[in-house]
Amino acid sequence: MRRIAMVTQKGGAGKSTLAICLGVAAREAGESVALVDLDPMGSLTGWGNRRNGGDIMVMAASPGELSEIMGQLEALGVTLAIIDTPAGDSALAEEAIAEAQLCLVPARPNIFDVAASQGTLQKLKHRDYSFVLNQCPPQRQAPRIQQGINALADMGVLLTPLVAARADYQEAARRGLGVTEFAASGAAAAEMRELWRSTRDRLDGVAEHRKSDAA
Ligand SMILES: Nc1ncnc2c1ncn2[C@@H]1O[C@H](COP(=O)(O)OP(=O)(O)OP(=O)(O)O)[C@@H](O)[C@H]1O
Ligand SMILES: [Mg+2]
Repeated sequence: MRRIAMVTQKGGAGKSTLAICLGVAAREAGESVALVDLDPMGSLTGWGNRRNGGDIMVMAASPGELSEIMGQLEALGVTLAIIDTPAGDSALAEEAIAEAQLCLVPARPNIFDVAASQGTLQKLKHRDYSFVLNQCPPQRQAPRIQQGINALADMGVLLTPLVAARADYQEAARRGLGVTEFAASGAAAAEMRELWRSTRDRLDGVAEHRKSDAA
């Protein structure tokens, strides 16, 4: 079972939105997906309640429960678990980081979000992680922002594509859908399918890396 945690102490960066939309894109690509809601605000749990059908399991987890829940999901044949965490410097985020094979750090392309990620990155020092830049202007990025994007890409800590600010993300979440379901031929759907492909490649790279470490 592949395990992803969405983490950043910055609120509103897109942890829950991306957890949902990536999860749906992965399910459409053939994965058996569970979303694990570690956030007491319950964004994913609410989304699950609005969703028709049980094709994606949504489980709320309390502090200290995550490890056991992950074991249960694996026993049920889940192939991808995505863990959502609350904003802030929380023990819950650390619990998720400890369970995850890959941590995704959503950030809006501005100095506040990237600066606010520093505390999160401290916790990710010995873990595999990658930024996902979210709520980007749909067209070209400003030159200074583009420089920052290039720097993250050069360090190997940026997943592609950039995720644009699009109303589809908000509408889909409101209806208990992923963007690939809400507007299957839209630009948001295309970028989420691509983001799942690059996430999966990254996870596979992690697996190979671990294998060679062990050899
Ligand atoms: N790519 C996007 N385009 C448009 N709106 C977006 C996008 N991503 C997220 N949003 C909106 O931004 C707001 C914050 O997103 P979200 O709740 O996913 O962030 P979060 O990191 O989970 O926040 P929190 O830290 O409070 O849990 C929501 O209203 C969401 O609909
Ligand atoms: Mg959230």
